[in-house]
Amino acid sequence: MTKPTLQIVIGSTRPGRVGPSVAAWIYDRAVKHGGFEVELIDLAEVNLPIFDEPKHPRFAEYTHQHTRDWSATISRGDAYIFVIPEYNYGFNAAIKNAIDYLNVEWRYKPLGFVTYGGVAAGTRAMQMLKQVVSALKMVPVTDAVNIPFVQQFLDADRVLQPNEIMETAATAMLDELERWTSATGPLRASPE
Ligand SMILES: Cc1cc2nc3c(=O)[nH]c(=O)nc-3n(C[C@H](O)[C@H](O)[C@H](O)COP(=O)(O)O)c2cc1C
Repeated sequence: MTKPTLQIVIGSTRPGRVGPSVAAWIYDRAVKHGGFEVELIDLAEVNLPIFDEPKHPRFAEYTHQHTRDWSATISRGDAYIFVIPEYNYGFNAAIKNAIDYLNVEWRYKPLGFVTYGGVAAGTRAMQMLKQVVSALKMVPVTDAVNIPFVQQFLDADRVLQPNEIMETAATAMLDELERWTSATGPLRASPE
């Protein structure tokens, strides 16, 4: 049987960002988990402009090639992990912009979070985004990885060295994503 596709989205885009280091770790964990085909998507490479489609995305009548490409990419996914930082007690703009571009492409698909930041470990960004993704009928799973003071987990080569709490949380989240991806399959098969 074909495995569902899990897309890991690097949500930060600034030069010198930590996002790719965190994403490389969870990508490796997701591959080892074995329940998914895993794909890594970097919003810095996708390079979407600030939302510039004239029509509401629910009509999927896109006028720009960058939107059609983004739609095709996200349509391939059955589930997602957003790897996101906390900026100013909330989510960063690039991830919200990338979400807003599309609509039906996200529908009935489970979502896990790997967040990072300072003392709050990115939890405020995660909680804010849960409200947003519920408007798109995504299914955020409860288990998540939230990394406090993320810099302390990077070695000299900026490779993330996880602790046991992060490893346990990653397993719980990936197991939940697998369950919810299977459970929501019928909804994706007949969306209306
Ligand atoms: C614009 C900006 C705002 C930030 N605000 C917060 C914040 O509110 N809470 C927090 O824990 N960390 C905050 N930080 C620190 C980031 O979480 C930390 O720099 C992290 O590495 C950013 O992710 P990135 O490296 O992938 O861009 C902020 C960083 C930036 C650049």
